[in-house]
Amino acid sequence: MANMIDIYNNPSRFKEGQKVWVSFLSQNLTLLAVYPSYNRIVCLFQKMDETILVVKILRLRNDDYDLIYRQMKEYHGMLVRSGQSVPNNLQFYQWFDEHLFIQYEDYAGKTVSHEFSRMGVGQIDLSRYRKILKAILRDVISPIFSVEKELNTGYLISGIDPLARNITFVEADPIIRAYLVDLFPPKIFWEGKFTLEKPEPQDEIVRKLSIERSYDIDQILITLWCSLVRAKPAFGLQAIKIISNHLDEIGEGATRNRILKRLNGFANRGIPEQKPEEISVLIDDWGFERVLDLRTLACYLACYKHDNDPRLLTKLEKLFFRSHFQIKPLNANEMAIVKKLVIDIAGMENNSVLFL
Ligand SMILES: Nc1ncnc2c1ncn2[C@@H]1O[C@H](COP(=O)(O)OP(=O)(O)O)[C@@H](O)[C@H]1O
Ligand SMILES: [Mg+2]
Repeated sequence: MANMIDIYNNPSRFKEGQKVWVSFLSQNLTLLAVYPSYNRIVCLFQKMDETILVVKILRLRNDDYDLIYRQMKEYHGMLVRSGQSVPNNLQFYQWFDEHLFIQYEDYAGKTVSHEFSRMGVGQIDLSRYRKILKAILRDVISPIFSVEKELNTGYLISGIDPLARNITFVEADPIIRAYLVDLFPPKIFWEGKFTLEKPEPQDEIVRKLSIERSYDIDQILITLWCSLVRAKPAFGLQAIKIISNHLDEIGEGATRNRILKRLNGFANRGIPEQKPEEISVLIDDWGFERVLDLRTLACYLACYKHDNDPRLLTKLEKLFFRSHFQIKPLNANEMAIVKKLVIDIAGMENNSVLFL
């Protein structure tokens, strides 16, 4: 009988329907899927009671082991106390012999990025998009406003990685409930520092950008928005409206104004209509410290393009891939590639029919 270590060592060999011995539950379960994952092996099992269990397996070096366990427990506790919507029955298990750190939880529905990228551009899809995004804002974004801020910096003491692929939703008509499913690496203010990645980046600009991305409310909202546009550019301008209305409704008008200034500022400056040469001049002196702004600009431009042009989605995917950083800053050559992609997107034909 296959066990969890076999899946960890060779995930591609495992197929739906296979029985696996899940030793920490002392149960034989049926494998449903192995999910794409960046840091871990994520698998879905059918339980005896017909519900679905999600198991996430991480292998750590010896010395990190206890630290990560304590940070994960702390992070999960902080999220729950702030009212964050995390999967039900989330638990951790330390498998000392194999140096595996396992997190398991209830299945929390479909993945937002996947669902949005499959949508068309009709009114029915738009109305569903709105409902799902409102649920994300209520369940995953609103709670961050009740998190305490670190006194010296003003950043949240527990952050989130606000990407559409880290958020799921369950549609139980008429209510949709959204969940933040990705708790690794933990994002907490720990012994005087904001935790970011494993291993922790040392470069100063990388740290600053990564801290803003996960712990600064404005940047969390912008990052979420970029990730929504990446999945579904045609609804990006609608998303700005929905986010902005939500911030108003929860009494966060000041945040709303700052976000609108950053996003609609592009429209006010006529950027959607500018020629690629003009965009090229605009971004010419943007260094690595503005790499997140390059993403935001590209996403803004993408909202105005033809959604059904597959080249747009390909360019956007490349842009996110090429501008990804974790430990080291991008070098001049890598920055030039990212800028070229922004300029290419600017050069695509604008769509005359927009969802405003
Ligand atoms: N509880 C869950 N319910 C449903 N899908 C999930 C759940 N947890 C994770 N997923 C899916 O698995 C993918 C990877 O899980 P995630 O926790 O984000 O791992 P990683 O740290 O590797 O990014 C997610 O993008 C999502 O599609
Ligand atoms: Mg993830």
